[in-house]
Amino acid sequence: MLGTVWRFLVGISISVLGWQRLGCGLPPPCDSKIYCTGDLLKQVQLARLFPDAKHFVDMPLRKPADVVLAEFQQLMAKAQKGIVSRTELQQFVTLSFDDPGKEFEQWEPQDWKSRPQILNKISDQKLRAWASELNTKWKSLGRKIKVAVEAQPELYSLIYVPKPLMVPGGRFIEYYYWDSYWVIEGLLLCDMPATAKGMIQNFLYLVDRYGHIPNGGRVYYLRRSQPPFLTLMMDAYLARTNDTAFLRENIHLLEVEYEFWQRNRSVTITVGGTNHTLNRYNVQVGEPRPESYSQDWELAAGLSDAARQELWAELKSAAESGWDFSSRWFQPPTHTATLRDTKASTVVPVDLNAVLCKTERLLADFHRRLGNSSKTAQFQAALEHRLQALQAVLWDEAAGMWLDFNLLTKQLNPAFYPSNLVPLWAECFVDEAVVGKVLRYLQGSTALSYKNGLPTSLARTGQQWDLPNAWPPLQHMVIAGLAKSSSSSARETAFALAQNWTRTTFSLYRKYQAMFEKAGARVRPRSAVRPAAASPRLWGV
Ligand SMILES: *[C@@H]1O[C@H](CO)[C@@H](O)[C@H](O)[C@H]1NC(C)=O
Ligand SMILES: *[C@@H]1O[C@H](CO)[C@@H](O)[C@H](O)[C@H]1NC(C)=O
Ligand SMILES: *[C@@H]1O[C@H](CO)[C@@H](O)[C@H](O)[C@H]1NC(C)=O
Ligand SMILES: *[C@@H]1O[C@H](CO)[C@@H](O)[C@H](O)[C@H]1NC(C)=O
Ligand SMILES: *[C@@H]1O[C@H](CO)[C@@H](O)[C@H](O)[C@H]1NC(C)=O
Repeated sequence: MLGTVWRFLVGISISVLGWQRLGCGLPPPCDSKIYCTGDLLKQVQLARLFPDAKHFVDMPLRKPADVVLAEFQQLMAKAQKGIVSRTELQQFVTLSFDDPGKEFEQWEPQDWKSRPQILNKISDQKLRAWASELNTKWKSLGRKIKVAVEAQPELYSLIYVPKPLMVPGGRFIEYYYWDSYWVIEGLLLCDMPATAKGMIQNFLYLVDRYGHIPNGGRVYYLRRSQPPFLTLMMDAYLARTNDTAFLRENIHLLEVEYEFWQRNRSVTITVGGTNHTLNRYNVQVGEPRPESYSQDWELAAGLSDAARQELWAELKSAAESGWDFSSRWFQPPTHTATLRDTKASTVVPVDLNAVLCKTERLLADFHRRLGNSSKTAQFQAALEHRLQALQAVLWDEAAGMWLDFNLLTKQLNPAFYPSNLVPLWAECFVDEAVVGKVLRYLQGSTALSYKNGLPTSLARTGQQWDLPNAWPPLQHMVIAGLAKSSSSSARETAFALAQNWTRTTFSLYRKYQAMFEKAGARVRPRSAVRPAAASPRLWGV
């Protein structure tokens, strides 16, 4: 799957400071003894009462948590060898829990427009009609959290936020962090800045409350985050509205989130005597993911307790990256590596560091706009350190590309991932010569030969963030990154990719009347409208 490693054979000394894992004694995903840890969760999930493990942890309680836990203790005391029968569990759950989804009310955005300006820019009649139809989806994806959730949060796994929001749809009935960046871009394109602002206010509320943004709006996502797009969301909103007052009120919270990544998710790498600080995904939280409990439990079969806890922490670190799951996180990256070899916390990812480079540049710009020169200087300096670190640690001159760095092997991973190009989109580097090298790298790989979008990797592992699947956020960042370039050849590649992706998603839509979370071997609907034929289908590449 991975080729030879050609860097660091030149005698540069590389070391990594203080990054080792904490080992045993990891905290659970959250403190709830219903939704995150404990016997009730374990027994219900291992009995597989529901086809999708997420169903159970999305069910609100019918009675207070301590009552439910006490009743479960009584059931356990009567049970044979501490194992409650499936039927008894089923009855217990029916009596104690409600169906998922009841904590939301449908909400129609007030700022919805039947003819957003963007439609005038689409000259092709069929594509314009499609865009117009997609614009109506906002009306079915809007949700408002009921006041009951704010009043009695302990009865729900949902994390309350004050403003209405858009959900991804399908299995994903709550809000998600990095997905929302593209939701917000879409809202702004559809002339709905008020709804976009509300979603940003929700994320600011979460930062204020927790110091970081959870992966999604459930307590079981609490101790892991997702790619940090909050400052980029603010930038997109400001570009449309110039709402400087909103920026002034909230800039301190953008900094709090940035500080979380610097404090909790950074690592220092010494190259040739110089210390460089870069970031990684790293969730030192044990136990199976509550929403995928039985899968995580089975995956760890036969491992020692310490090894199980470590694997479960690594799966959460991979989930924090948004890429769950992918050979990108397998270590060592041999042909036989599998999900069990996930070691996401040992990777210093190109895309995460590019997004943080953009965050630092934006925070410097925002403070300049607000007239705070000392803060501007602080973020300008952070940006310069980041650029030096990207260059020293992640740039591979021979490959002509940024590559993920592995903390265990102290080597770069030469495999192709669209994430390697994110520094272009994030405008960390705009130098024409760099763009030329990146383009040659792309043309030299086979990545540009797929008709249904740029694949997530060139390794076919069965994981959803691998070949042949193509994911919308990656298409966007690569296409927009190349399209910004002054090189006409980069812009032509961007155009070809955009055309292929539009064709792919348009033909999927015509066939299923749904937008999909990814295009590839197994397509799964992500919009509120489910396709008539939901069976897996080979979408040949
Ligand atoms: C971040 O680090 C602080 C202090 O080291 C710790 O208390 C907190 O739990 C960490 N938060 C997360 C979400 O990892
Ligand atoms: C944005 O607002 C600021 C004041 O808040 C003003 O100085 C600036 O000219 C505005 N820019 C645009 C493009 O309207
Ligand atoms: C790099 O960081 C380590 C640990 O903080 C420190 O001991 C060392 O002096 C630093 N080296 C340089 C060149 O700053
Ligand atoms: C800049 O921000 C710092 C930290 O928030 C604050 O102490 C300082 O007063 C601000 N300066 C200006 C000119 O607003
Ligand atoms: C676009 O799809 C065609 C097949 O329809 C393929 O030959 C071409 O390589 C793709 N282009 C890019 C840039 O992916």
